[in-house]
Amino acid sequence: MDLSHIRNFSIIAHIDHGKSTLADRLLELTNTVEKRKMRAQVLDMMELERERGITIKMQPVRMKYQTGGGDYLLNLIDTPGHIDFSYEVSRALQAVEGVLLLVDATQGVQAQTFTVLNMAREFNLVIIPVINKIDSPIARLHETEQEIMELLKCSSAEILRVSGKTGEGVGELLEKIVTRIPAPKTEFVGNDPRALVFDYSYSNHQGVIIYARVFDGEIRRGSELSFSATGDKFVVLEVGSFLPEKHSLASLVAGEIGYIVTGLKRAGQAKVGDTVTSVSRALPAFPGYREPEPVVWASVYPENADDFTLLRQSLERLRLSDAALSFVEESSGSLGRGFRAGFLGLLHLEIIVERLKREFNLTLVVTTPSIGYEVKDLATGKTTLIYAPHLFPADTRGYEVMEPWVSASIILPPSYLGNVIKLFNSHEVLLLTTNNFSEDRSVLEVELPLRELMRHFFDELKSVSSGFASFSYQLCGLRRAEVVRLDVLVGGETVAPFARVVSRAKMEEEAKAVVEKLFKVLPRQLITIKIQAQALGRIISSRTISALRKDVTDYLYGGDITRKMKLREKQKKGKKKMQNIGSVNIPPEVFLRMVGSDK
Ligand code: GTP
Repeated sequence: MDLSHIRNFSIIAHIDHGKSTLADRLLELTNTVEKRKMRAQVLDMMELERERGITIKMQPVRMKYQTGGGDYLLNLIDTPGHIDFSYEVSRALQAVEGVLLLVDATQGVQAQTFTVLNMAREFNLVIIPVINKIDSPIARLHETEQEIMELLKCSSAEILRVSGKTGEGVGELLEKIVTRIPAPKTEFVGNDPRALVFDYSYSNHQGVIIYARVFDGEIRRGSELSFSATGDKFVVLEVGSFLPEKHSLASLVAGEIGYIVTGLKRAGQAKVGDTVTSVSRALPAFPGYREPEPVVWASVYPENADDFTLLRQSLERLRLSDAALSFVEESSGSLGRGFRAGFLGLLHLEIIVERLKREFNLTLVVTTPSIGYEVKDLATGKTTLIYAPHLFPADTRGYEVMEPWVSASIILPPSYLGNVIKLFNSHEVLLLTTNNFSEDRSVLEVELPLRELMRHFFDELKSVSSGFASFSYQLCGLRRAEVVRLDVLVGGETVAPFARVVSRAKMEEEAKAVVEKLFKVLPRQLITIKIQAQALGRIISSRTISALRKDVTDYLYGGDITRKMKLREKQKKGKKKMQNIGSVNIPPEVFLRMVGSDK
């Protein structure tokens, strides 16, 4: 098929605005998936995606479309909607020429509509605005239309109206895709190939399978290719397209999107954003994507120490198809050997843990997620990224600490402004601008420390706005942080996994809370246990759990008083011994409750 009859596009939207459902209708109308094989959200192929009704991984699919103007090949990349995966969206967008910007008529323009629109603009893509869910009895068609016109500075006639549920308007949408989205262009003449890797997966017998957009030339089985960034070479074992299952083809040519089987078996050889070119004549590499940066870290330990190797293999396996997952080995006295892993956000963390459990049958202990701090030793000028709280300096004098901030958009009905501003005060949020977007929508641009975002900011925002506020954020750089390390001591000994980094201003409050929590969950024992929280070299909160007075003489029925006294004496000595060596028994379930994500 010549280039002028190819269209590559993506659907972008706020979460749950109906991308996958609309994709189903496109697949149906183009007879890509037979009706009898059709099921809801057919592109969400992972079991976890189907169960939760969310898209986690982008999924490309090729459709054939016949129209008055001839036969067309349409390549769609369905992208995930959740903010944690916006990194996936940016990758997909570099492989296409246009996007459908979908807005749910029942909700109108939401915070993430802004974010994804900005991404599409960054790549100079053609944007087709689409109002979805027009069948819904609670659709706010007129308001949504006004909001989109305001957002895109476009006319009402340019906006399409569809229902992914009933299929209404989807035929016109297909026509619009062909007429509005430009055909792909090549840069170099000749057959020398150049393709952009936008994703990959892994198969046990085929190795790494890259998902690529071919920009120049042709790639076929037997082609000798190499990765520009890593220099690794391979001979193509198979090429093909997604229907949405893999379907092998004789070749992939310029303008097309498909997969390339490399046979490579090591992690790190294929990199998202890398360019593949011919070994004999390499064309210049694409600028590539931003490397995904972990936003939160958590430690993952196998509950059974024997599973450590299995955990390592499982993480390596997941990394083969998830460029955003990173991890390093660590060990903790109480939890044994495990890994400190970096994630794109809390949902990403939750999904990886869930996959480790399901796909590899692991039982895990996962610590409270924390963020990374850049700590500069002012004496040596050396900067270290610290992403485990117990490694943070106990005293920050002599150090400069920088922490990540995020910039965020919040959209909400103006009547909730008062509540939300109160919330801002308790989360160190800086309000930059407030604009009225339409009659009942205000848009707030704010900035806040990532540390505060992680303290359940989003949940609280939802709750103070009765669920109406929508939120979207992105990292916006590092700023000076006033934070301290808070240690927890049990029986006079520091328990490293309980350490946390907290805002200096909230130090006392956090110290009290953590001591109180441990006081509640630690069972009484035969000795008195002191629980303390310490920061900047002093104890700031403390509680004592009194000893369990188990009368060892209880079972002695009746009289021999001297025997009772002897036994009590012996017990006293025993207690003393235990206290001396500070051996407080912290049962595993207490660890779990203290370090597990508190939700
Ligand atoms: P993520 O990928 O997780 O962001 O979701 P998504 O944008 O792909 O949305 P999805 O297609 O999963 O749809 C979200 C919800 O909206 C589901 O409950 C759908 O059944 C519903 N929905 C989607 N399209 C329509 C529509 O046209 N009309 C109505 N009434 N409901 C719809």
